[in-house]
Amino acid sequence: AVVKYISAEGTVTELDVSPGVNLMQAAVNGGVDGIVGECGGSAMCATCHVYVDEKDVGKFDPKSAPEEEMLECTTSPVQETSRLSCQLFVTDDGDEITVYLPESQQ
Ligand code: FES
Repeated sequence: AVVKYISAEGTVTELDVSPGVNLMQAAVNGGVDGIVGECGGSAMCATCHVYVDEKDVGKFDPKSAPEEEMLECTTSPVQETSRLSCQLFVTDDGDEITVYLPESQQ
């Protein structure tokens, strides 16, 4: 899938992400500033917070209870579309996905 990460300042980074890879991992490997991923992807740190574009919300599994809880610990305000990007796995190679990065992660 082609994933666009748009920073709070408007910088766009476009990455090619394979199915099975999560958006935190892809961002860290791809050098996207603004996603930290401190806990390595176990929904335990909330430093991988993103806002998923409305059109793409349905492409991912719904939030689990631990993710829900961890989203209460994010530094930037939580919105309807807030997710932990380590819990967002690409499923379809043909998808185009856009996520917005919050101003701060910690
Ligand atoms: Fe820690 Fe996502 S990387 S919650």
